[in-house]
Amino acid sequence: MAEVVKRPVLITDTILRDAHQSLIATRMKTESMIPIIETMDQVGYHSVECWGGATFDSCIRFLKEDPWDRLRTLRKGFKNTKLQMLLRGQNLLGYRHYADDMVEYFVQKSIANGIDIIRIFDALNDLRNVQTSIDATKKEGGHAQIAISYTLSAVHTLEFYAKTAKRIEEMGADSICIKDMAGLLVPYAATELVTALKETVKLPIQLHAHYTSGVAGMTYLKGVEAGADIIDTAMSPFSMGSSQPATEVMVETFKGTPYDSGLSQELLAEVADHFRPLRDESIASGLMNDKVMGVDIKALLYQVPGGMLSNLVSQLQKQNQMSKYYDVLKEIPKVRADFGFPPLVTPSSQIVGSQALFNILGGERYKMITKESKALVKGEYGTTPVQISQEIIKKIIGDEKQITCRPADLLKPELKANEAEMKRFQIQDEDVLTYAMFPQVAREFFEYREAQMTKIDPSLADKENKVYPV
Ligand code: CO
Repeated sequence: MAEVVKRPVLITDTILRDAHQSLIATRMKTESMIPIIETMDQVGYHSVECWGGATFDSCIRFLKEDPWDRLRTLRKGFKNTKLQMLLRGQNLLGYRHYADDMVEYFVQKSIANGIDIIRIFDALNDLRNVQTSIDATKKEGGHAQIAISYTLSAVHTLEFYAKTAKRIEEMGADSICIKDMAGLLVPYAATELVTALKETVKLPIQLHAHYTSGVAGMTYLKGVEAGADIIDTAMSPFSMGSSQPATEVMVETFKGTPYDSGLSQELLAEVADHFRPLRDESIASGLMNDKVMGVDIKALLYQVPGGMLSNLVSQLQKQNQMSKYYDVLKEIPKVRADFGFPPLVTPSSQIVGSQALFNILGGERYKMITKESKALVKGEYGTTPVQISQEIIKKIIGDEKQITCRPADLLKPELKANEAEMKRFQIQDEDVLTYAMFPQVAREFFEYREAQMTKIDPSLADKENKVYPV
């Protein structure tokens, strides 16, 4: 009888990052995480994704928390589990390109404060934009995972993905992630894609999908059968909808098969019990909207990632324009086509999303053009997958010329200048990075922090307990 080769699937849990970013606009506080860290640390996850993405911005903007403190707290608690973060390559955790000295310093500090695995991606899959991050991660002894932003268009073929994977391997990455932000990767396409990548590269392959379109669990099943090594899941209270498939469900799916993860349902149940009240609270307060909780098959039509959906809902609610929801959704693929078919992921998702919002709410397409739309069309984020038409170039940037070099090659070192500007607020090395990425918000946060520390303004203390509605 032929021996069955065991190939246990590894699990990355996203509840401390992507899951709450996708379902409750990244509002989970560190204090909600602390009591369960010890239990989560015993589960045996391959890694816990807990930092980066929008968590940094949300910490200083809404939660009035120091993101570096959060990272150190998590590091202290997770003694056996690898901590993973999401980094937007040359954009770091902000929304523009930063000079190489910033990228190097940020990676150095992330690893020094406790990160083991850095998942790096570029919204346009322009690999020139991830090289500095890979090199810095390797230099600091971290694991550099490069994510390919998965999207659909005439140029995003199997051959394109295999070629991209090959280049990533040559660039020195340790693993590859297929990052399916919008739930576009359907099960049988996952079989083909994972098979193609496995035939092309030797690196471990991780699948990252969102449940938005309802297929992600099946996609993982087919992907793992085809050779995927690691899957991203979220503990059930913050799973599905625009988040990831539920950890417990995937663990049960593979139980007793060659892919059995070996994780204990009892321990997972304890973790879920901790987060369930937070889900209930989020629903009661409206922070978790039913628009992001169910299956939205229109995601397949509009190719909108989870985080973008919850942002869009929040923007439209604020302006009392919820009735325009589907109009904006319909406009998104049109703007995407105009802008050269970028995958929709931060920051391109915000750029395309905001432009689509303006096109609809303004009553006329491109009557109002955002600064970011101009930068994207100009080439300041890198090369778009498809060349943008002359007509659109003219409409968006007029007579200005597109740039074709790696955008960061045009940037001078900027760390020193930032340091000079924010010196008076600095209480730790890392503050300069916080400031450089979010100057305005960081300043307000530093002022708040200062007031908290000196307790000169008691009215500010209330802010800590304030519920921030979306
Ligand atoms: Co995601």
